[in-house]
Amino acid sequence: MGIVIKVDLWRIGLFALGTARLQYYAINQSLTHKLIIYISYRFKKGLHMDTNDIVSNGMRPELTGTTTQHGGRPVPSENISITAGPQGANVLNDIHLIEKLAHFNRERVPERNPHAKGHGAFGELHITNDVSAYTKAKLFQPGTVTPMAVRFSTVAGEQGSPDTWRDVHGFAVRFYTEEGNYDIVGNNTPTFFLRDGMKFPDFIHSQKRMGQTGLRNADAQWDFWTRTPESSHQVTYLMGDRGTPKTSRHQDGFGSHTFQWINEEGTPVWVKYHFKTRQGWDCFTDAEAQEMAGKNADYQREDLFNAIENGDYPIWDVKVQIMPFEEAETYRFNPFDLTKTWSQKDYPLVDVGYFVLNKNPQNFFAQIEQMALDPANLVPGIGLSPDRMLMARAFAYADAHRYRIGPNYRQLPVNQPVFPVNTYAHQGPMEYQFNPASAPVYTPNRFDKGAGFLDDGVSSSSGVSYGQAAELFVNPDPHGTDLVRAAYVQHSEDGDFVQAGILYREVMDDGEKERLADNITNAMVGVSPETEERCYWYWEQVDPQLGARVKELFATKK
Ligand code: HEM
Repeated sequence: MGIVIKVDLWRIGLFALGTARLQYYAINQSLTHKLIIYISYRFKKGLHMDTNDIVSNGMRPELTGTTTQHGGRPVPSENISITAGPQGANVLNDIHLIEKLAHFNRERVPERNPHAKGHGAFGELHITNDVSAYTKAKLFQPGTVTPMAVRFSTVAGEQGSPDTWRDVHGFAVRFYTEEGNYDIVGNNTPTFFLRDGMKFPDFIHSQKRMGQTGLRNADAQWDFWTRTPESSHQVTYLMGDRGTPKTSRHQDGFGSHTFQWINEEGTPVWVKYHFKTRQGWDCFTDAEAQEMAGKNADYQREDLFNAIENGDYPIWDVKVQIMPFEEAETYRFNPFDLTKTWSQKDYPLVDVGYFVLNKNPQNFFAQIEQMALDPANLVPGIGLSPDRMLMARAFAYADAHRYRIGPNYRQLPVNQPVFPVNTYAHQGPMEYQFNPASAPVYTPNRFDKGAGFLDDGVSSSSGVSYGQAAELFVNPDPHGTDLVRAAYVQHSEDGDFVQAGILYREVMDDGEKERLADNITNAMVGVSPETEERCYWYWEQVDPQLGARVKELFATKK
């Protein structure tokens, strides 16, 4: 019997490339203005980048001396423009003046539509437990350390708005894995307002400034929420203490959706991610949050930056809830409905590891504003689920990035995966990375460039059926695969107000209940009489006692 030695040519090639790769650092010696090219050989690391590499990827060498135009020519003066005589007109061929003004006019990209106000940092994910029975994803294998980025945000406010305004707070993480970027674009709540992506633009419109007045409008918010009873669980979180976290460090993060994990054998389970802050939760009261909004609109941004600068690195424990694949069908709540949680009594938290944020960005615009997070950035061993919000999001983010940053946004340093991309895509605005001259520009082809892992690499296989698209998620669907518009499948205990009521009655203590009613009624100021009645109805459904308290309190505030 012969021995077969499987040689992974691709990986050997990568390693060879990596070890031979030279990094050039231009180090300035300010006195002599002499440029030294420092060459670092990366023998040990292969092409793999660590957090330091990611944070400095794209950074220009530190230079002093004469400035240059963008094309490299020395600039004569940064201060005095060229005129026709000392009191004459400016001239169109003052090339540096024109370039400087024109570039300044293009310094902004459109802000994110939701989640415009934010800040972020970089760090590492460490896996301390063995969850390989559930997922083959390399980043979650025991002992693995993966560089990562985080962006925290608020939802409704603009780029300059206060980050302490009452809002759900975005908690979006990116892992730079050796199988590509994996993003979990979650919030600091385990649920959401909606269960169908169709309603997302309406929801955001109700939160943002109105068309005529340019003002935010309490009536619109409550009109939408109270006509969308599935929002009640999330609104209860939002109006509770956790709607005003003190800092980004003092809050948990959640993947919120149900995702799929798949192990080496191809066995799927359903998972929910929980990132538990080791700093402990700490929240402002309504009044404190408003006061801080007036004092320092960037309070949370500043807090995170300073903590990391001072070496006080925040840490979150990474945990998951795991639901066996078959149990999804009979669980008492529809486990794909994003307005619901899974009880931790039914599915306890399983330890995975932790992440630490230990590096600030080198450049806010290049690395935070242009960071293009996307729930569709998945890696092998992790899939989506029949959650309609998640499926809509799988489209929405890349589309937003193409509009906001440009179609080649993935070639920007902060968005590049740490391992090379093998693609036939080329050209488009601002193309920066390109294939070798000899590479074919189409597939299938007679060359060696490669094809999809299901393709035979020889022909277009157009007559072949591959069955389920298991890279999205493994899903023998017991409800049939016809395309329909249908209500969510109701499980025995489902109901729009059920879990909001449980959160109020069983989780909140008396003080929290009173602050909840107080916060709700503060937020209701300005609603129309019709919406006011709907608010009473909505909160009575959550809990009659809460409904009565809201009515009583609001009478003193309107
Ligand atoms: C169908 C529903 C949704 C749609 C269509 C949607 C769409 C968007 C869009 C277009 C952006 C701006 C992206 C950009 O320009 O960079 C965004 C940002 C964001 N969304 Fe959603 N979203 C949805 C639901 C959710 C849910 C359920 C969550 C959390 C569980 C969430 C969390 C976030 C976060 C954290 C950001 C900011 C990401 C960053 O920091 O760059 N979104 N969303």
